[in-house]
Amino acid sequence: MCGIIGYTGVENAVPILVNGLKSLEYRGYDSSGIAVFEKDVVVVKEKGKISNLESKLQNIQLSANVGIGHTRWATHGRPDEINAHPHSSVNRTVTLVHNGIIENYAELKNELINMGYEFTSQTDTEVIAQLFESLFDGNAISTMIKTAEKLQGSYAVAMLIKGNEDKIYAMKKDSPLIVGKGENENFLASDIPAILSHTKDCYIVNDGEFVEISKNNIKIFDSKGVEKHFTTKRVDLTLSANEKNGYTYYMLKEIFEQPKAVRNTVAPLISNGKITLPFTPSEKLNHIHIVGCGSAYHVGVTGKYIIEELTRIPVTVDIASEFRYRNPIINKNDLCIFISQSGETADTLASLREAKRKGAFTLSIVNVPYSTISRESDAVIHTYAGHEIAVATTKAFSSQLAVLYILALFIRSKQNCIENYIDELLALPEKIEKTLKCENQMKLLAKHIATRKNVFFIGRGVDYPLCLEGSLKLKEISYIHSEGYGAGELKHGTISLIEEGTVVIALATDDTLLGKMISNMKEVASRGAILIAITNEDNNELEKIANHVIYVPKTNKIFSPSLTAIPLQLLAYHTTIEKGLDPDKPRNLAKSVTVE
Ligand code: AGP
Repeated sequence: MCGIIGYTGVENAVPILVNGLKSLEYRGYDSSGIAVFEKDVVVVKEKGKISNLESKLQNIQLSANVGIGHTRWATHGRPDEINAHPHSSVNRTVTLVHNGIIENYAELKNELINMGYEFTSQTDTEVIAQLFESLFDGNAISTMIKTAEKLQGSYAVAMLIKGNEDKIYAMKKDSPLIVGKGENENFLASDIPAILSHTKDCYIVNDGEFVEISKNNIKIFDSKGVEKHFTTKRVDLTLSANEKNGYTYYMLKEIFEQPKAVRNTVAPLISNGKITLPFTPSEKLNHIHIVGCGSAYHVGVTGKYIIEELTRIPVTVDIASEFRYRNPIINKNDLCIFISQSGETADTLASLREAKRKGAFTLSIVNVPYSTISRESDAVIHTYAGHEIAVATTKAFSSQLAVLYILALFIRSKQNCIENYIDELLALPEKIEKTLKCENQMKLLAKHIATRKNVFFIGRGVDYPLCLEGSLKLKEISYIHSEGYGAGELKHGTISLIEEGTVVIALATDDTLLGKMISNMKEVASRGAILIAITNEDNNELEKIANHVIYVPKTNKIFSPSLTAIPLQLLAYHTTIEKGLDPDKPRNLAKSVTVE
């Protein structure tokens, strides 16, 4: 998603802006740009990587103390220099950068064109700039308020406004925006890591607030233009997660950080065998809804199997972009759980707000502290995976799974003894560590997978959602088409796609379903499939059927997803490397999807 950085202070803004944009690269982008106040506003922007912008800047030798920067993830208009941000209004009254989507931009654009305004880009962002100019009354705050009143959709906007050469202005709705307070300098950013090397004193801007920062002053105004009191928070985040520590790519580092991530996530919730949650589920709890996108949704589907098995409470799982529009049936004693690594995913945030509107108790499971979803839910359980940079989630995924195990065990503990489960859960980090030893085997298999056009993942029971996750991991970074399928469902259509040489990856960790899985594996093998099986280390039945078998340590079947996820992640990673692609920054994708 787009990244925003702003600086006003006594240093040269240009290197600060560029370095800030580099720390936002992980969010995914296709162009970048900065605008600074020299004598007038100077805008420099370029398509592609930030290094292209840097090359352009080297030939200009800019020096200024106030500026804004942006990495763009294209939503309206091609990813090129014309559409890159910042965008200026026709008389350069305002130059701005934007993260979000203005849903009524076409209507506003037509109105402005009828007023004689001309546009140079296809972006919704340029509409904000021209609209601001059309409403400019000489006062930055009142004009921002009037502009915001006309905008529909999501936005975080940072602006340079003519006549206010020492200031940066900002406003937001739904998209994240942080103010950083420094010594003789102040900052704006889309997320905290972009300014963490300068300050840890942050203010998280709320929807409907309007911001004015100069080097020695931060002012927050409400939607009536009245200045309001605010206090900054000292954020306890470190930059260490931003280092690769010898790994070629963040994704592999984060795969190998999973034992620590799960241990750090579990520790605050379990001590001396007792589970403590930051909220108390209703005694009358009779339905759980789990909502998320992508891998977070897959955690939810896995959670359904586990929670229903352990608690016999019905669980409904929804993709957030469906939940928010299907008028879900939510009753008073329901628990609605929202899973999100970034805590900023637009569809998940909107679903959270929909559930709150319906009166549900909302719990979020989030990795990024101070994120919008964590702040707006009634209760939050943080995963302590550390800053996850690779677009393809791994350590946050495993940490989210661990939280759902704990939640299920907490509810079960009301009627049943959970000692054995707790012991097995606490042993998981060590078993994940052991499972990581399959890396070389996955590296070899990756050579084979890298030449494929289609791959199928099949499984039953709690292995099924891991097929969805394994498929997503492979697709999103190696660009190889794949599908995750219930093994029992294959014969209802998709088995027609299985032909000589088709790769099928079968997950078979549930002993109670092994017989069925063996039948499904034979079905595909008899049609020429190349079969790769992932199963428990004590199951030697599959070597006769599969071309390759990967063993994971034995654990209680409800915890097996934490182990089968590992070979799937490593296979996706090494297949991507085999194809000469960058696993950290896959094309078209962003780390945090803050638009719907
Ligand atoms: C996972 O590898 C993907 N990058 C993506 O599906 C991700 O899980 C999804 O966008 C949800 O993101 P969130 O957890 O930050 O809400």
